[in-house]
Amino acid sequence: MCGIVGYAGQRPCEEILVRSLKNLEYRGYDSAGIAVFEGDRLKTVKAQGSIDNGLVPKLEQVGQLSAVAGIGHTRWATHGEPSDINAHPIGNARVSIVHNGIIENYRRLKEFLISKGYSFESQTDTETVAKLLDYNYKGDPLEAVTATIAELEGAYSLSIIFREHKNKIYAVRKESPLIVGTGKGEMFIASDMTAILEYTREYYLPEAGEIAEVDKDGVTFYDVHGNVLEKELNTAEWDVTAAQKGGFEHFMLKEIHEQPAALKNTLTPRIVDGMPSFEECGLTDEMLRNYKNVFIVGCGSAMHAGMVGKYVIEEIARTPVIVDIASEFQYRNPLITKDDLLVIISQSGETADTLSALKLGKRIGADTLAAVNVAGSSIDREAKMSVKTLAGPEISVCSTKAYMVQCAFMYMFALRLAYARGTITADKCREYTAKLLETPQLIQECIDRKEQYQRVAANIMNAESLLYIGRGLDYALSMEGSLKLKEISYIHSESYAGGELKHGTISLIEDGMPVIAVATQTSLYPKTASNVEQVKSRGAKVVLVCRDSAEVGAEAADFLVRLPDTDDLLMPLVAVVPLQMMAYYTALDRECSIDKPRNLAKSVTVE
Ligand code: AGP
Ligand code: GLU
Repeated sequence: MCGIVGYAGQRPCEEILVRSLKNLEYRGYDSAGIAVFEGDRLKTVKAQGSIDNGLVPKLEQVGQLSAVAGIGHTRWATHGEPSDINAHPIGNARVSIVHNGIIENYRRLKEFLISKGYSFESQTDTETVAKLLDYNYKGDPLEAVTATIAELEGAYSLSIIFREHKNKIYAVRKESPLIVGTGKGEMFIASDMTAILEYTREYYLPEAGEIAEVDKDGVTFYDVHGNVLEKELNTAEWDVTAAQKGGFEHFMLKEIHEQPAALKNTLTPRIVDGMPSFEECGLTDEMLRNYKNVFIVGCGSAMHAGMVGKYVIEEIARTPVIVDIASEFQYRNPLITKDDLLVIISQSGETADTLSALKLGKRIGADTLAAVNVAGSSIDREAKMSVKTLAGPEISVCSTKAYMVQCAFMYMFALRLAYARGTITADKCREYTAKLLETPQLIQECIDRKEQYQRVAANIMNAESLLYIGRGLDYALSMEGSLKLKEISYIHSESYAGGELKHGTISLIEDGMPVIAVATQTSLYPKTASNVEQVKSRGAKVVLVCRDSAEVGAEAADFLVRLPDTDDLLMPLVAVVPLQMMAYYTALDRECSIDKPRNLAKSVTVE
C-alpha cells in the first residue's frame, strides 16, 4: 500500500531517496518522509501531503543534507490519519524505521512498551515496531531486529537504521513487498523495481523472515537465527521508459495504448503447437482433467476478469466455476476442497485480501494457480503454480492493461482446460487460439476510434448516476466498465444484468439518465435490444456498445459505439476498450486526478 526506499552509497542520498519515492507515489501518497545519517545523528524530515507539496518544501527549509545513507517512505494510511506526526520514518534518536503493511498485534505490544516507560506520539501501528526495536537494541542491530520481528503479527516490510551503526540499513519483510538493488559502490532498498530502475536493474528478492544488512559495499542476508544466506541476483526486464509516461498525458492512457502489445506479450510465449500450454508452470492436462471445480478469486478488476473467465470456462470446458471476491471468500467457509483448483488473479501480487484467500486455499489442500503481473511478488511466490501476465509495469491506479492480460490468461486457461477435458477438439482449440492471437490488432482498431468515446464522455460527464447493462459475457464485462467510471470520474454507476432490470432497478430510470448497454453477444443481441427499448421509453439516454455488423434501428440509441467483429467468446477483449476510454475521457472532462484517484492506492496491501 505504501512505498519504502533506502540508499547506502558514496553519493548524497537526499535526492536519490526523493526521486525513488516519487517513482513509488502510485503506491500511496498521503504523506512522505526521509531519515538519514547526518553527522552523528539520525535526521528525519517528513510531511503530510504529496512529495512535491509536503516533503520537498520541508527539505528546502532544512537545507542540503550531506548524508550518504538513509531511508524513505510514501504512505497510504491504515492506522492514524495522514498527518506530519503519523508520516514515516518513525522512531527516536536511536532508531528510525519505515514500514509497509499492518501490525495486527500492535495494541498489545504498545501496552507492554508503555509499561516499560515508553511514550507514543503517533497513532500508527508502526511506532510500536520502532519502540520495540529500541527496547530490544542492546548494541547488536541484528539481534534487535530478530527479537522484534519474533513478536510481530501481521504484514510488514521494514527498513531500519540505528544511529550507532552509521550508513548501514537493515531490511526485513513478511508478506509486504521488498527488494534490494545493487549498484557500483552503492546499494538500494525499495518496495519494487519501479523506484530504482533509473539506478540499477540488478536486484535481490528477500524471502519472508530474511534480514538484509546493507551498506555501500553490498548486502548480507541472514535468517532469523543469524545464519548467512546466499541469494541469487535477478535482472529486471523493465527499463526506465517503461515506467514513465512515454509522451501520454496520463499513465492510464499510455497503458490503454499498450494493451495490444501487453496482450501479445502475454499470449505468445504460452502458445505451444498452436494452443495454450501451462506445462512450464507445472499445470498438466492430467491435473486439469482431475479437478472437480474451479474457484477464481481476486479483487476489483482482477475479480471482474475472473467473471469473464467463468462464462468462458463454463461455455467451452463445461466445468463448474465459482468466482469470489477475495475478502468474501476467506470468511464464508468456502466449499473448496483438495479436489478443486483455486485460481488467484492479481496484478500487483501483493493484495492482502487475495493473498489471504490464497493461503486459505493452500491450507485446505487445493491446488493453487496464480496469475500475477509482478514477478517475485508475494502471491507469485506463495502459489503452488504461477503464471506471469506480461503487461509490464502498470502505474495508473486504474487497471486497464492488467485487466486485459488477466482476461487473456482466463481465455488461455479455459481453452487448455476444455481441450484437456475433451469438450473441444485440438482443431477447435487451435482455431480459438488463432482468433485470440488476432485480437491485439482489433484492440488497436478500437483505440483508434477515440472520437466516439470522446463524444459519449462529453454527454455523460455531468450525470449524477448511470447504469451499465448487458447479458452473459456483456454483463461480466459491464462490471469492469462501471468500476472504471466510478474510480476515476467519481460518477456513481452500477452494472446490471439486462434481464434483471425489470425486477426493480428500472425504477431508477428518469429522463436523461445515461444507460450504457453492452451488446456484443450475437446470440443475446435481440434480448439486450429489448432492454434498451425498455429504458429508452422511460427517458434514458442510451449509449449502445455493439459490433460493426450489428443492425441497429435509427431510433434505437442516442449514441452508437461500434466495435470490430470477432467471435462472441472473445468480444470482451475488444469491448473493454471503449468502456476504459469512455471512463478516461469522462474523468478528463471532469478534470479528475486520473492516475491517482482520491482515496485509492495502486496496491491494497492491507485487509
Ligand atoms: C482496478 O482499476 C482497481 N485499481 C482495483 O480494483 C484493483 O483491480 C484491485 O485492487 C486488485 O488489485 P490486484 O490486481 O493488484 O490484486
Ligand atoms: N500501517 C502503517 C501506517 O498506517 C503503514 C501503512 C502503509 O503501508 O502505508 O502508517
